[in-house]
Amino acid sequence: MPAPNICATASSIVCDVIHKRISLDKATVIRLSKLPQSNWGETREISWGAIRWYHYYLQIINKLLQKPLHKNDLMLEGLLLCSLYQLDHMRAPNYAIVSSAVEACRLLDRAKACGLVNAILRQYLKQTNTNKSAKNDEYKTMPSWLLNILRTHWPHHLEQIIDACNGRPPMTLRVNRQRCTVNAYLEHLEKIGLHGSKSTISDVALTLSKPLPVNAIPGFNEGQVSVQDAAAQLTPLFAGKLEGRILDACASPGGKTCHLLESSDGKLDLTALDLHGHTELIESNLQRLGLEAKIVAGDATKPESWWDNQYFNCIILDAPCSATGVIRRHPDIRIHRRNSDIYHLAKRQLELLTSLWPLVAKGGRIVYVTCSIIPEENDHIIEQFVDQKNDVIVKYPPIKTGLKTKFGRQLLPQVGDADGFYYAVLERNQS
Ligand SMILES: C[S@@+](CC[C@H](N)C(=O)[O-])C[C@H]1O[C@@H](n2cnc3c(N)ncnc32)[C@H](O)[C@@H]1O
Repeated sequence: MPAPNICATASSIVCDVIHKRISLDKATVIRLSKLPQSNWGETREISWGAIRWYHYYLQIINKLLQKPLHKNDLMLEGLLLCSLYQLDHMRAPNYAIVSSAVEACRLLDRAKACGLVNAILRQYLKQTNTNKSAKNDEYKTMPSWLLNILRTHWPHHLEQIIDACNGRPPMTLRVNRQRCTVNAYLEHLEKIGLHGSKSTISDVALTLSKPLPVNAIPGFNEGQVSVQDAAAQLTPLFAGKLEGRILDACASPGGKTCHLLESSDGKLDLTALDLHGHTELIESNLQRLGLEAKIVAGDATKPESWWDNQYFNCIILDAPCSATGVIRRHPDIRIHRRNSDIYHLAKRQLELLTSLWPLVAKGGRIVYVTCSIIPEENDHIIEQFVDQKNDVIVKYPPIKTGLKTKFGRQLLPQVGDADGFYYAVLERNQS
């Protein structure tokens, strides 16, 4: 039976995310720190599941309630979301889940609501005769604006995308080629009773059969491996042969910066740029991996404040985006992101690209990357940019992963067990 304190903490996490708009990662870390470690796994499973299925269960709760909850009782919404998720998706017997939810009411100082919670959950069980499967309703886990976008752009891939977004992401590692090989690392895992498998899309990626806390990953602190999704590990392939000056323009926390350095025996003249206050993680990742880059704090849309007027041969622009390709890793994206964000993000993406273009040497290139699966942030940006300029050549590196689009390549989530990413390569005309 899920202990009442687990239900109460999971409900508080859900409430923090929905009503205080705190990120799920942050709310989880804060709330778990108050529970014994033995309860972390189950609390996380319940709260993350409830957030994944938020849009679906909220509709049900609103139908079951005779009148809306008072604003002081929003915690009960979190509790009901967590309980319905458990009834449909977790193994504990239904009576135990209901009784634990009722007990959690007391722990949450809502003793008066025990009757209400009990009644709602019993009514749900009576109406649905729950069979531990809400599989047919997976589409309802998406906010309608996002579902409409996905339906419009990816009608033939919709089921795959929804499935991926509702799934649990694998823990994928990038092996630091300068310190280890994938085969040696996999052998080491086997020796210590852990397992992993090679990625089908990146030759330095492997997936652990079971996720581990970062500090428990063998060789992590020694800089042998980093945590990075396999689709994010395609950057060096799209960038091609690197020489001269390289800029990683939106670099923090440094995943792509470090990967580029690892792929080039660490001898690149690479500048890692990110906004003021965002560069610390780049520094610590470089240190852990034994790599070197020039770190600059500045705004990529205002090169006049940090650029030394020396052209770059290659710029990686991993632009801030809706992150709709990584929903399975951050299920709260579907709650916190709004349709109107897409317009503002697209404006910023085009501005970043336009500001950085004059810094590219003739014959040099920009690799434009997002972890979005929305074309307004991807092909549409490149299209607008190419229309404005007369010195851009769109390049199509011979990479087969994902779908070819008009200007680049789109990886939808789950291809190669990886996240959704978009890549486009733009070369600056020599003349
Ligand atoms: C998708 S993340 C980058 C992830 C990183 N490339 C990696 O692989 O680890 C986008 C980054 O863009 C940065 N950013 C947003 N606007 C920026 C700007 N105007 N100038 C520089 N960096 C910016 C954010 O701070 C954030 O770190």
